[in-house]
Amino acid sequence: MKHSVFSYSSCNALAEQLRAIGVDLSPADSIAVLGTPAAQSGITLPNRIAFQAMEGCDGEADGAPSDLTLRRYRRFGASGAGFVYVEATAVIKTGRANPRQLMLTPQTLPAFTALVNTIRQAAQEAGQSDPFIAVQLTHSGRYSKSPAGKPAPVVAWPDPERDPKGVTPTVITDEELAALPDRFVQAAKLAKQAGFNCVDIKCCHGYLLNELTGARLRPGPFGGSFENRIRLIDTITRRVGREADIAMMVRLNVHDEYPYPYGFGVAQHDFRVPDLTEPKQLVDRLISNGVALIDCTAGNPYYNPHVNRPFDKAGYVPPVSQVEQLFKHWQTVRELKAHNPNALYMASMMTWLRHLAPPFAAAAINAGWFDVAGWGRQSFAYPDFPKQLLNEGTMDPTKCCVCCSKCTDLMRTGNVTGCVVRDRYYTDLYRSIPPEQRPVATTNVREHV
Ligand SMILES: Cc1cc2nc3c(=O)[nH]c(=O)nc-3n(C[C@H](O)[C@H](O)[C@H](O)COP(=O)(O)O)c2cc1C
Ligand code: SF4
Repeated sequence: MKHSVFSYSSCNALAEQLRAIGVDLSPADSIAVLGTPAAQSGITLPNRIAFQAMEGCDGEADGAPSDLTLRRYRRFGASGAGFVYVEATAVIKTGRANPRQLMLTPQTLPAFTALVNTIRQAAQEAGQSDPFIAVQLTHSGRYSKSPAGKPAPVVAWPDPERDPKGVTPTVITDEELAALPDRFVQAAKLAKQAGFNCVDIKCCHGYLLNELTGARLRPGPFGGSFENRIRLIDTITRRVGREADIAMMVRLNVHDEYPYPYGFGVAQHDFRVPDLTEPKQLVDRLISNGVALIDCTAGNPYYNPHVNRPFDKAGYVPPVSQVEQLFKHWQTVRELKAHNPNALYMASMMTWLRHLAPPFAAAAINAGWFDVAGWGRQSFAYPDFPKQLLNEGTMDPTKCCVCCSKCTDLMRTGNVTGCVVRDRYYTDLYRSIPPEQRPVATTNVREHV
C-alpha cells in the first residue's frame, strides 16, 4: 500500500483501514487498561503508558544533565506516565553520539541523582503516581562523535550501505568489546545509587550492541554465528543481572530491515519481511539473564526512519504506508510475547496514530499483544497527555505531534532538540536559524527504499 499522510477522522476510519490491510484489531471501548499497573519479574509499573527514550542532546560537556535536560524531565515527571525513560546515556566517552549526550560516571552521579529526584518531585507535585524510571545505557558505535562533534565511528564491521561517506570507519577490536561489559556494570551500579528503578541496555537503532547482532561477516568471537553475534549483549545482561542489583530491561531491535547479510531479524529472501527465529532465541536468553522488560523497536533512524518512527514529512516519501509499517511492528511484538511471555513487552510507534492511539493500544493490550504502550515524540509535543487521557479518556488532537521530523532535523544538525511545533523554546530556536541555514531533513534517501 502506498504511503499517505495521517488523515483518519475517527477510530472507525482507522479500523476500516486495518481490516483492509489484514490487521485484526478493533479499537477498545474503554482505554481503562492503560491506567492499570503492569507487573512481572519483580517490577511494577503504576500504569501502562511509557515515555520512551528521547534524547534532547542538551547535556553538559562532562555528560551531566543540564538545566534544559531538567526542564524536559520535570515535564515528563509531571506527565502521569507510569514509565519514564531517561534517554540514551553513554557508558564510555568514545561511545557518545554527540558531545552533549548524557554520560553516567562517578563524576556525574550527583547530577543524575538530582535528575531522578527532579522527576519524582515533579510527579508528586502534580499529584501523579511515582513513575518507574529507567536509564538507557549505550555505546553509540558507528554513530559516535568526537568531543568536537565530528564523526568518530566505531563499527562492528564495515557496511557499504551505512558507512559514512569519506570516513574510514574503525572496526572495534575484540579486546575493546571484551572490556565493555565492565563499563555497563559500572554504569548500572551508579544508576542504582542515583535512584533509578531500572537500567536499559540499548540494543537497537544501529548502535553498537544492535549492530553486532547482525555482524555475520565479522570474524572472531563477536561475529559470524548467532552465539558470537549476541555474545556482547548476552555477557552484559548476565553480568548486570548478577552484579548490579537493579532491574534490567533491553530496548531491542526486533528486526533491522537491512538487506541480508547485514541486519538482525530479517528474512534472507526479502529484508522487509521480519524473520523472528533469532530474535526469539535472543529474547529467551535475555529473559534467562534476568531481563524483566523488553522494549521492542525496529529499523535505524539514520537509514530507514520510516521503519523506526512513522512520519508524514521528512527527507523522502516513505516507500510503504506508515500504518502498515506501524502495525507490522506491533505484530512482531505480539509474536515475541506469544513465544516467551515471561517479561513485560513494550511496543513502540504510538505517536503517528495521534489521538487515536489509545483505543488501539488498549485493544492490543487487552488482546495480549503487548503489556505497555510506548510513546516517543508525543512526549516532546504533548507531555501532559497521559494525565489528560487517564482523567478524561481522550487526547486533544490539536496538541498532538504532527510527525514533521523537525525535532530530528535539529538533532542531526548538532542542535539541542525538542518539539519545534508545540514547544515555544524550540520554535524560537528553529526560527532563530536563518532560513537558508535551517536544518533540512537529513535522513538518507537510499536506493533500496
Ligand atoms: C529527537 C528524538 C530523540 C530520540 N532519542 C532516543 C533515545 O535516546 N533512545 C532511543 O532508544 N530512542 C530514541 N528515539 C526514538 C524514540 O524513542 C521512538 O522509538 C521513536 O520516536 C518512535 O516512536 P514514536 O513514533 O512514538 O515517536 C528518539 C527519537 C527522536 C525523534
Ligand atoms: S517537531 Fe514536534 S511535531 Fe514535529 S515530529 Fe518532532 S515532536 Fe512531532
